[in-house]
Amino acid sequence: MAIDAANPVPPTYPRRVGMDQVPPHVPKELIRSVGITYSPEFLADPYKFFAELPEKQPPIFYDVGMYGNYWQATKHEDALFILRHPEIFSNEGATPFPRDPDDYFYFIPQEIDPPAHRKYRNIVDPVLAPAGVAKLEDKIRKQANDLIDQFIDKGEVEFTEAFGRPLPVIVFLDIMGLPQDMRDTFVSWAMELLHSNSQERMGKAMAAITAYLKGAIADKKANPDDGVVSRIAHATFDGVPLSDKEVFGFVCFLFIGGLDTVFATLNNIWAFLAQNPDVVEQMRADPDNITAQVEELLRLWSVTFSGRVLIQDYELRGIQMKKDDRITCVLPACNFDPDVFPDPKRLNFHRPRQIVLAFTVGAHSCMGAHLARLEIKIALQEWLKRIPNFSLKQGFKPEYRPGGVVGPEAVPLVW
Ligand code: HEM
Repeated sequence: MAIDAANPVPPTYPRRVGMDQVPPHVPKELIRSVGITYSPEFLADPYKFFAELPEKQPPIFYDVGMYGNYWQATKHEDALFILRHPEIFSNEGATPFPRDPDDYFYFIPQEIDPPAHRKYRNIVDPVLAPAGVAKLEDKIRKQANDLIDQFIDKGEVEFTEAFGRPLPVIVFLDIMGLPQDMRDTFVSWAMELLHSNSQERMGKAMAAITAYLKGAIADKKANPDDGVVSRIAHATFDGVPLSDKEVFGFVCFLFIGGLDTVFATLNNIWAFLAQNPDVVEQMRADPDNITAQVEELLRLWSVTFSGRVLIQDYELRGIQMKKDDRITCVLPACNFDPDVFPDPKRLNFHRPRQIVLAFTVGAHSCMGAHLARLEIKIALQEWLKRIPNFSLKQGFKPEYRPGGVVGPEAVPLVW
């Protein structure tokens, strides 16, 4: 039965962690423990790890991990099937972030299966649809240049601090109608929640986010404006306002989904370009191909995953899965599937068009995808125009934090 977002309750299905909780239907030969997102091998070079996953492991395997036991799917074709069949692979309860069981809420629309989730998306989609984000283009371009003005004469910069993070976060807070002076605090909460790798620290970050956002929502209810938080706070279905839990769950998920995904992507791309001047040359020589360039960079540097829970037994690729099993589509690995992207480790800005799984597909495809693509495009255009020759600071090797959004922590550049 569909969950009732106005009256949320914590999921009751088992959360399995460790070898002793591998259910009997899992074939022994498919059990692995590869440590996606946290093992030393992963953190040493996550994208080498993702690219080699389809070569080293079966297309679907059962991963016994520190944070839970999941089926992992790395074939593009399987991911499309899983993501397009919510009646088998559900989003309800599939999100790993901790919540207070006594004040439980659902992440909206992320944890609501279709068709119910559509009504929530309809509230915000006009702002984030192509026509909505196109209105932001001039503002984003100006913001990118204002940031570049601040460091271009220095000949060096820590990219993340000075550009990769502020650009999307400023844009995001503007859209949401949240104050710019909270930028660093919001970023540090999001980093704790997504990358601390500690349930205790994640819990504390969640409590801080909750307290702040509840205050912000109360303020928008009293003082409406044209930001997304206000839009959600004042939304109605058939004349009935959203409940407090629905408003909070929606605002909270946008906050989590919209903050560090874009800057992780930018960090990955800039760390790569800084080490590959020939790619920068290719891009500058072919500016009209920017859309395909962004897509190919997103293929190589997609940053996150799609987790689902089976709500019925299902056999996929001859493997019997059971209700309550969890499965992750390892999107960054699916983007290296050689059956869809021949010679997948090689960058090719002229690939035949295929679905790149950076923003997932199906009912839950990313609501911020148009905005993110526009931000990446503008960031590339403006940066490469003004700082075409840049490299990583000598001796620097990118380091990655564990967590469900993958990107280097810092990217110090010189030019
Ligand atoms: C490069 C940047 C981004 C990437 C790679 C990304 C990736 C994703 C992915 C993979 C999902 C699906 C998760 C799943 O299947 O369980 C998703 C969902 C979502 N994203 Fe993004 N995202 C990005 C930026 C943004 C931004 C900027 C926003 C907000 C302004 C945003 C809002 C959302 C929302 C609301 C959902 C849930 C949609 C639903 O469940 O119907 N994302 N994103």
